[in-house]
Amino acid sequence: MQKSKIKKLKKILERSETESPEDIKEEAKDFLQSVDTNELIAAEQEMIERGVDPASLGHLCAAHLEIMADDLDKMKAQIPENHPIAVLVAEHDEILKFLTELEQLNQKISLAKSAEQLPKKFFGQLQHLAHHLVAAEKHHQREEEVLFPQLEKYGVYGPPQIMVMEHTTLRALKKELSKMAESGKIGDFVKFKEKFSKLSGELVANLRDHIFKENNILYPAALKVIPKAKWKKIGTDADKIGYCCFTPQHKLVS
Ligand SMILES: [Fe+2]
Ligand SMILES: [Fe+2]
Repeated sequence: MQKSKIKKLKKILERSETESPEDIKEEAKDFLQSVDTNELIAAEQEMIERGVDPASLGHLCAAHLEIMADDLDKMKAQIPENHPIAVLVAEHDEILKFLTELEQLNQKISLAKSAEQLPKKFFGQLQHLAHHLVAAEKHHQREEEVLFPQLEKYGVYGPPQIMVMEHTTLRALKKELSKMAESGKIGDFVKFKEKFSKLSGELVANLRDHIFKENNILYPAALKVIPKAKWKKIGTDADKIGYCCFTPQHKLVS
């Protein structure tokens, strides 16, 4: 990547630390249109090597995902249904549905003025959602133990590192939500409402963002750098780890 592009990326990242992503989105979009995925990955890696906090790179994603939105459909069309990447994308689709449900549940609770106004099945619904979100662990495990090491083997270090960090953050949020669901207690309604809204809001935003980055940056990069012949073994290794209770039916590779 040209030095001028790295410089430009650094400038955008610096601005994103003090300004809202909305404000720098246009500039980031112009920049991103001038680089391809490989260049962006190379730039991100270089920034990490120079000591930039990998977490700050996440700010660029809001802009990146807008331009890459239709690339996902193209990617899906290129791989068979039981390809390890296709299974991960299909699981993302299910996780996104849970997040929409969580958001709707939060809307219901924010409209309620007292615990009595909550839907009768509130905790039942919450437990169901928390259970499924926690059950996504096998999905993360397949990424961390099978896919990411392969990406690293073929030279992509930075993005998987960011994704692993995000998994850690997400795990903690899911655990917290699960605790709230299992307790089945409301206590002080105003406090409960506030905590639930903050927690679910954070989880929904972070997990959606994470999924977008994987679907639009990481997985396409994996398909580009990992040789075709390697995917069968990746599939059998993924089978060994296993799938989530919500994984759409697919043929095992092995
Ligand atoms: Fe992930
Ligand atoms: Fe994922």
